[in-house]
Amino acid sequence: MKFFLDTADLGEIEKAASWGVLAGVTTNPTLYARTGGKLADFHNHIKRICEIVDGPVSAESVAMTRDEIVRDARELAALAPNVVVKIPTMIEGLAATRTLAKEGIPVNMTLCFTVPQAIMAARAGARYISPFVGRFDDISEDGLEQLSQVVAAINNYNFSENTVRGEQVEIIAASVRSAHHVTQAALMGADIATVPFGTLKKCVQHPLTDRGLDAFMKDWEKVQNA
Ligand code: G3P
Repeated sequence: MKFFLDTADLGEIEKAASWGVLAGVTTNPTLYARTGGKLADFHNHIKRICEIVDGPVSAESVAMTRDEIVRDARELAALAPNVVVKIPTMIEGLAATRTLAKEGIPVNMTLCFTVPQAIMAARAGARYISPFVGRFDDISEDGLEQLSQVVAAINNYNFSENTVRGEQVEIIAASVRSAHHVTQAALMGADIATVPFGTLKKCVQHPLTDRGLDAFMKDWEKVQNA
């Protein structure tokens, strides 16, 4: 499984990129709003992320009709070679994805919650599909169970006939809120987990690692003083 960072915060992206495990970034309108960014700066902000990260960077279209989404997507894709256009799972989004896939513009189909939505996204030619986990948990449903159904269903079929740039569709576990989500996403075979900065940091940590490190340091001090 690959790790993407789910943020638009440049500081977080720079830090995580320096750790050597970051394979991409996903942003959305909420994450960009959280940075305090203005509409006029949005394209430059995405360009900046694309310079920092050597991997796919999802930038979301907020258009609602297929023609507007396609126009928006072409502009976003022109910003950098590693831009992936994020498009919500809806009829207009599917239609736009079909057009964009034929042009070789990679799409990350977002706000995906069900197996039929995921299969339709793949059939339309999405390069990435983002089933959400945490938002199911928010409404007292089992987000991991929903993710496992999407992973199993997509893996039942060969979507190679509608790949973008010869690459197969990949599932991004999104709306990830904990290391437990990451563990389970990896065990069920999700290709990617997109993880907020704080959660990614927690994924590196374990109390036994801290305790072991502490013991090694203390014992090494004894060696130095012997
Ligand atoms: O980027 C989409 C998704 O990961 C958002 O997560 O935590 O807002 O449900 P969340």
